[in-house]
Amino acid sequence: KIGLETSLFGREIVYYDEIESTNSIAKDIANRYPEGTMVIAETQKKGRGRLGSEWQSTPGGIWFSLILKPSIPLEYAPRITLVAGLAVAKSLRRFGVDARIKWPNDVLINGKKVCGILTEVDAEVEKVDYLVLGIGINANVRMKDFREDVKESSTSLEAELGKPVNRIELIKDLLYELEQQYIKFKTQQFSNIVSEWISLSDTIGKEVTVTTPVKIIEGKAVGVTDKGALLVKTRNNTREEIIAGRCRYAKT
Ligand code: BTN
Repeated sequence: KIGLETSLFGREIVYYDEIESTNSIAKDIANRYPEGTMVIAETQKKGRGRLGSEWQSTPGGIWFSLILKPSIPLEYAPRITLVAGLAVAKSLRRFGVDARIKWPNDVLINGKKVCGILTEVDAEVEKVDYLVLGIGINANVRMKDFREDVKESSTSLEAELGKPVNRIELIKDLLYELEQQYIKFKTQQFSNIVSEWISLSDTIGKEVTVTTPVKIIEGKAVGVTDKGALLVKTRNNTREEIIAGRCRYAKT
């Protein structure tokens, strides 16, 4: 084993050389495997991104999903995404990069995306049954291997640090930090997590355009609510709470 410092996360590991998507597998096995099970693959053929996009998953990255069984009301599920973004940013910072979180869940270095998070929920009526937390980190992904359409806006740890990272060390640290934040999430007020999230946020204070399935909101990102929604102050001084959407920064 890799010397884990966790008591729950990654205690059970399901590994594949190549798989369609670790999130799909995690969903399939969630009711048979304990909380904290990690499904991890060297490459994904059909990695899933947010809002139906495809997530490119070439060798050298870290592509995994965690099975969580938090028994929380469905409306609090988006909080988990923030918790995960915070954990990833904190962990990456320990490896020497200035990682920041773009709402809701991209982790950026120097404005470029190094990690994406996709949370998928299976809820029975209003309570979360289980939840799959999918995390993709461009660890040692080569810049030349990025798809043309994301090349400009993406980066990898290897590119930022000028040398490859030790993926085992990073996975160990990620699991540790994710478990710490998850315990905090379950035992403390969410406002504690929100304030730490804000301190590492790349979004708060910026002019943003957020696209949701029903509308487009423009204004200044001013905070995050108790449910994990982004608070935007619009030009005509209304405050909008956005629970899910695509966030773009205004060009400055
Ligand atoms: C995003 O669009 O930003 C979210 C990307 C999430 C990618 C990860 S990689 C591991 C897990 N399995 C998937 O199919 N997707 C997530």
